[in-house]
Amino acid sequence: MEASSQKTFYLETFGCQMNAHDSEKVVGTLLSQGYCQVPTVEEAGLVLYNTCSIRDKAEQKVFNRLNDYKKFQKQGKKFGVLGCVAQQEGAKIFERAPYVSLVCGSASYRNLPQMLVQLEAGKPRVTGLDDRETDECFETEFTARTNPHRGYITIIEGCDKFCAYCVVPFTRGKERSRASDSVLAEARKMADVGYTEIQLLGQNVNSYKDPAARKTFAELLAAAGEIAGIRRVRFTTSHPRDFGRDIIEAIDAVPALCNHVHLPIQSGSTRILDAMQRLYTRDQYMERVAWMRAAKRDISLTSDIIVGFPGETEEDFEQTLSLLDDVQYDSIFGFKYSPRPNTPSLKLQDAVPDEEKARRLAVLLDKQREIQRHNYQKHLGETIEVLVEGKNEARKQWIGRTSQNKTLNFSARGDANPALGSYVSVLATATFPNSLLGEMVV
Ligand code: SAH
Ligand code: SF4
Ligand code: F3S
Repeated sequence: MEASSQKTFYLETFGCQMNAHDSEKVVGTLLSQGYCQVPTVEEAGLVLYNTCSIRDKAEQKVFNRLNDYKKFQKQGKKFGVLGCVAQQEGAKIFERAPYVSLVCGSASYRNLPQMLVQLEAGKPRVTGLDDRETDECFETEFTARTNPHRGYITIIEGCDKFCAYCVVPFTRGKERSRASDSVLAEARKMADVGYTEIQLLGQNVNSYKDPAARKTFAELLAAAGEIAGIRRVRFTTSHPRDFGRDIIEAIDAVPALCNHVHLPIQSGSTRILDAMQRLYTRDQYMERVAWMRAAKRDISLTSDIIVGFPGETEEDFEQTLSLLDDVQYDSIFGFKYSPRPNTPSLKLQDAVPDEEKARRLAVLLDKQREIQRHNYQKHLGETIEVLVEGKNEARKQWIGRTSQNKTLNFSARGDANPALGSYVSVLATATFPNSLLGEMVV
């Protein structure tokens, strides 16, 4: 094929792991359609953005990108918007960015090959925007995973919870799970080609309901952890309401299940949790924390927290701070509440001013940093197994990840040269609030 007739695409991804994994499937689909991926917008015939709309900032980023690159339209480049902003804004994107010619929501990727054909045939505006009633999951044999050692598997898509602040139920459609047989078959295939870590994904991964009714979520986890060759299984994100004790029992029973649970609380105030429609109280959440603390393994807990939800008083916020003391998370993602289209909380009174949200976020993160400093110190002198994920050539250090999902940077004596993707034991010799430092144990 002549270079000039080669179909090329550039893809940039925003948002969560579900989006990152969707992009791997989109890339695979495009490659299977004869496209070639290129690393810059300049080199590409088709420029794609897989977008996120969880907060206003994320959405703005995409329109800024489109604006930056519209000059290339004259050179015949085509632009496509995929993912959650596409699903949310639909054909309105053509009004905001008229040079866009493809809008494909996250529930419509399975139609991507036909959409590409229409685009190539010169159709000026191609859309794929299934509504949230779809029953389909995006399964494809063409997934182009970016990492050869650890890979994602989506087990459940969509969300039926409708938290008052959140766009996901609108952008990702209704909850639908994949059959456990299909999930495990994919995991086995990955193990066969050398993957040792798999990460099971879902907006609410533990709301999983096997359509074939063969396995509960905890049983699926255990079965994945027992696949020959799989040394680590992660899962994210868990919803507190659906978090059963059986998940902790599975972690205790199956060593390949990582001892890390990401369990977003959002707020420490039951009053605010109620206004958020989170479906649990602080006490119910703390009960789950107590189960984890009683486990045989040392389970690392992390969380997401929103500050400045409408009506959040200083007292409510203090309760979030006291929750941090009570739980002692190993890490949190903190966010300022961002009003989003279609969500019920848009209509709530008593908005918290932006400066106050910023203040609360800073206080929250400062407090958490001290908690982490203390938590990470506990690892000093421990020998911990890590998956070698990278190398920092300048520092002559390797980057390892522990089962608890902590970063452990380490050096190795002499001419030891641990391979990326291998598992090695490392003695932790120094600790920081966000990482550990150590030396490989021979
Ligand atoms: N399903 C997961 C969360 C997915 S969204 C759960 O329920 O826990 C990831 C995180 O983004 C959320 O946990 C929340 O903390 C944050 N988030 C979602 N909508 C937001 C909004 N409108 N403003 C600020 N943060 C938001
Ligand atoms: Fe959003 Fe709530 Fe669904 Fe999580 S559970 S994705 S926060 S609506
Ligand atoms: Fe963003 Fe969509 Fe994920 S809104 S966080 S990319 S589900």
